[in-house]
Amino acid sequence: MLTLENIWASYGPVQVLSGVSLDVPAGKVITLLGGNGSGKSTTLKTIVGAVKASAGSIRFEDREICGMEPREIVPMGISLVPQGRRIFAPLTVMENLRLGAYARRRQEKSKDDFEAIYERFPEVRQWLRRKGNALSVGQQQLVAFGRGLISRPKLLLLDEPSSGLAPILVERLGEIIMKLKEAGMTILLVEQNVHLALSVADFGYILRDGKISMAGPTASLVGDGDLIRHYLGG
Ligand SMILES: Nc1ncnc2c1ncn2[C@@H]1O[C@H](COP(=O)(O)OP(=O)(O)O)[C@@H](O)[C@H]1O
Ligand SMILES: [Mg+2]
Repeated sequence: MLTLENIWASYGPVQVLSGVSLDVPAGKVITLLGGNGSGKSTTLKTIVGAVKASAGSIRFEDREICGMEPREIVPMGISLVPQGRRIFAPLTVMENLRLGAYARRRQEKSKDDFEAIYERFPEVRQWLRRKGNALSVGQQQLVAFGRGLISRPKLLLLDEPSSGLAPILVERLGEIIMKLKEAGMTILLVEQNVHLALSVADFGYILRDGKISMAGPTASLVGDGDLIRHYLGG
């Protein structure tokens, strides 16, 4: 569904991605692991066009999207749930969800899209009038998920969804990702939590200093001592 080939990207003089290639087949969960500053978020930002690649190719469903703007790419069915700030604090939960719904102009009725989110995350319905900053980190992550899913993307990009979550919520997150996968969603999951990532993903890539240093089916990565050394090294 998505293929990156030899992607190079920099922030001004700072080279961040040095020839990243990876493949996200339809219906699979692919994880991109790596230490802090290895270029994981930059990879996701490059996919949605928020960071411009200086070289390489990004194909989404057989269309070249490298060089396109986010406003062209997102409506094609790619949704990014960003790292960190998660949702817009001064806006209500409802307003946050609406932002997600507007991100992809679709013909079908959006009322059903909201219902689908409440079905998946029933508690979100209770929070609709609350401001983003009145929610806990875990609640914000659910709303961020809802905002990312409400446009019914074909490809979901998740940037460290587990960061800041209590262990019990990390477990729930794993279940949410598995349910999405069972429903046929294609996911590229960026994580620092190796255990979570390897337990839900089919295939993993390790990014180190802007290069893919290791790749393989997660079954082969689990129990590979090199993985931990690679992952923690540097
Ligand atoms: N907006 C930016 N301007 C300049 N440098 C940046 C910017 N964003 C990230 N970087 C640098 O690019 C490198 C990769 O960052 P990032 O992709 O966020 O890594 P990761 O998500 O793997 O932690 C880091 O060295 C970081 O400091
Ligand atoms: Mg990051």
